[in-house]
Amino acid sequence: MVLDYKNATAHLASYSKKDGLDVQTLIDSANFGGLTYNDFLVLPGLINFPASEVKLESKLTKKITMKSPFLSSPMDTVTEENMAIHMALLGGIGIIHHNCSADEQAEMVRKVKKFENGFINDPIVISPKITVRDIRRLKETIGFSSFPVTENGKPGAKLLGIITSRDVQFLDDDTIKAEEIMTKELVTAQKGITLTEGNNILRTSKKGKLPIVDAQGNLVSLISLTDLQKNQDYPDASKSFDSKQLLCGAAVGTIPADRERLDKLVEAGLDVVVLDSSNGSSVFQLDMLKWIKEKHPHLQVIAGNVVTRDQAALLIEAGADGLRIGMGSGSICITQEVMACGRPQGTAVYNVCEFAHQFGVPCIADGGIGNIGHITKALALGADCVMMGGLLAGTSETPGDYFYRDGKRLKTYRGMGSIDAMQSTDTNANASTSRYFSEADKVLVAQGVSGSVVDKGSITKFIPYLFNGLQHSLQDIGVTSVTDLREKVYGGDVRFEFRTASAQLEGGVHGLHSYEKKLHN
Ligand code: IMP
Repeated sequence: MVLDYKNATAHLASYSKKDGLDVQTLIDSANFGGLTYNDFLVLPGLINFPASEVKLESKLTKKITMKSPFLSSPMDTVTEENMAIHMALLGGIGIIHHNCSADEQAEMVRKVKKFENGFINDPIVISPKITVRDIRRLKETIGFSSFPVTENGKPGAKLLGIITSRDVQFLDDDTIKAEEIMTKELVTAQKGITLTEGNNILRTSKKGKLPIVDAQGNLVSLISLTDLQKNQDYPDASKSFDSKQLLCGAAVGTIPADRERLDKLVEAGLDVVVLDSSNGSSVFQLDMLKWIKEKHPHLQVIAGNVVTRDQAALLIEAGADGLRIGMGSGSICITQEVMACGRPQGTAVYNVCEFAHQFGVPCIADGGIGNIGHITKALALGADCVMMGGLLAGTSETPGDYFYRDGKRLKTYRGMGSIDAMQSTDTNANASTSRYFSEADKVLVAQGVSGSVVDKGSITKFIPYLFNGLQHSLQDIGVTSVTDLREKVYGGDVRFEFRTASAQLEGGVHGLHSYEKKLHN
């Protein structure tokens, strides 16, 4: 008998066969192997809304929600202040690494907290005694064409004038001093003005730079016309609850010296601390968590890393405001190989998130995120946010210089447990060794490698690519937000399918002689 086509959807509702698997069955079926992101796919749903309407707002910790579910890893080739500033501007958060002295790390936190979009808070400044030869040299190395002149040649001191390239362009005598040729009649603005007000002054004064000074005439910051022209608005920026300052995260270890380090970070304005350990279920981390909760009760604490419910339970009970999940899944990681310890990331993310959510503790899937699809899968398995190292490495906001090899523009990307990173530490900077409980070891055992990645351009383009891609991905699944995804996964409406080895080949580009994989414009 042929059924009436007009009843197809009604018939489906009472149909005994369903496509794909619910999430619990997916995880249970993989119990003899563990699940990675590449092992499965999410089945498509109904699209009845535009991708641009998909909300990616997600919880980072019990008290912090972000517009984008993205974090940059606390690694010395990924997150210093420049990355942290841009991650926050783009709606996520950067976690500043601790493979440096406590003072250096606190200074980075301070720079993120002091950052105001459009204001140059750390301008390159010259002394009145500097010669034309030196100014030309500075211009060649730095590429700027004008410099404020202050009494002692440092920001924060009394502003005396400005030197522009025109002032030095036609001078034959290289020994003339800045004070003899600088422009002294300056248009300045008082500390506290808004970017829009500064913008208007620049426009009407027809100057290229607007120095901002305090009541005593000391240089505080600078607004540049060229910056203003390329300045984007960042409506989704992650900001602290009480101030308009960007949100900033930083990692610390769990040895006694890290308490002093954390005090300095908190003084610099830190919002979130990540307790950085390859295995978070240690008495050291539990003690540290308890100490932080007593000493800095307002600080949000992300504990980890964990991959099992047992590990998670200890940290949840000790007061963790968020959990970081992953052991051995990072792209530079050899932990699973060397330590025989860890867990496939899909299984780890599902199990920990399913448990932690019952206590209202948000979870971050950390490591192994290689593309937008992996982000979607991490969220589908319960993660609130994803942390990325390798995917962001090679962008211009990461620390380190580009270099050329085999005709490619590259940057270094290394594991914090690589010999390179562990040996780069001085006595005050113990991030790498303490992360792996190796600070007392005479022979270092590497848990990571050091390598290189290709230039990915700026994250001001790359993060929007991830964001838009994720919106389209959720649209394909038929969910309108990260919360909607979670509810429909746990409710059994979002369905999953395993991928065999040949399914994975089928899902990749195949049958071409050659091709170029260009991911965004
Ligand atoms: P990726 O995004 O796959 O490159 O992984 C980054 C994550 O790997 C970081 O956020 C850390 O959790 C982890 N990680 C960093 N350094 C090491 C290491 O040397 N060995 C193992 N895991 C590491």
